[in-house]
Amino acid sequence: MGKKVILSGIQATGNLTLGNYLGAINNWKKMQEDYQCNYMIADLHTLTIRNNPEDLRKNTLELLALYVSAGIDPEKSNIFLQSHVPAHAELAWVLNCYTYMGELSRMTQFKDKSAKHADNINSGLFTYPVLMASDILLYQADLVPVGEDQKQHLELTRDIANRFNAIYGETFKIPDGYIQGVAARVMGLQEPKSKMSKSSTIPNDAIFLKDEPDVILKKFKKSVTDSENVVRFDTENKPGISNLMSIYSAITGKSKEDIEKEFEGKGYGDFKTAVAECVISELRPLQEKYKELIQNPDYLEKIYRDGARKATAISENTLRDVYQKIGLVS
Ligand code: TYM
Repeated sequence: MGKKVILSGIQATGNLTLGNYLGAINNWKKMQEDYQCNYMIADLHTLTIRNNPEDLRKNTLELLALYVSAGIDPEKSNIFLQSHVPAHAELAWVLNCYTYMGELSRMTQFKDKSAKHADNINSGLFTYPVLMASDILLYQADLVPVGEDQKQHLELTRDIANRFNAIYGETFKIPDGYIQGVAARVMGLQEPKSKMSKSSTIPNDAIFLKDEPDVILKKFKKSVTDSENVVRFDTENKPGISNLMSIYSAITGKSKEDIEKEFEGKGYGDFKTAVAECVISELRPLQEKYKELIQNPDYLEKIYRDGARKATAISENTLRDVYQKIGLVS
């Protein structure tokens, strides 16, 4: 039996955060040995907000360099840009015709993003989960490694696939989410009841993968905690400390109980420094590799060209089958 298939992606907006790393990329890296992995840069999804064209181009290449710096190996995984593979937009159109307005209106991310960009609630923002479903279904993915915030989109993907299969017979593999680990939802350092986000405008709320060590230390030192001064896991009453514990646990592999013991009798100052130090050393090799790669556009171009070729071959098979089944003349 062949290897199981993975597909996942990240939007090309600005800087990646520690949340994207712990919730997604860090898991992707571990899956490369055992799965056939497809890791995409969701540049078409990025169009749902307004971008300066030069920034979008720059962010896309930077994200590609970050994938590779974080340990996604182009020899093992298929890395590509969504816009280079026409089947994504083509299948999205077809699946739009099998997705209901009511389903899309229930998506919490649509509601959140509409509130955030009230002056630009475009139809791409509304149908965005259908493009995401197409990304996944084209590759017949078994598993989709994502953070907690994408769970609802995955459920919709399964619903659309089941609906299509029920009408036309087995066409799409029904994918499972792979939402794993203690850091599937990393929260903001200033607002620990909201997720850490690339687009956060609150100063010191997000740790960016490209932050210098002194900046990382400063952000953790300033992170919001509580007045109890006891390192104890309690998301309800101690969201700040609990979030720091999850980050520390995800990186060191220590359990929540071990962490509570390790910091018994010590103050938050010591704990915050320890969390910052483990994040700094986790990110150091990534940052060094990134500085090298970003100077090498030819190598990055080779990666996305090879990726586009492989991704096109896989996705066209599925698209052809869909077109044939729904009655388009081939
Ligand atoms: P995006 O670009 O918002 O986020 C990329 C990945 O990072 C995860 N993530 C987090 N995990 C833990 N804590 C956080 N604070 C945090 N913030 C983000 C997200 O869950 C995601 O895994 N629609 C997707 C991109 C996409 C996609 C796909 C993903 C397009 N097509 C197909 C999977 C399969 C998105 O906007 O993710």
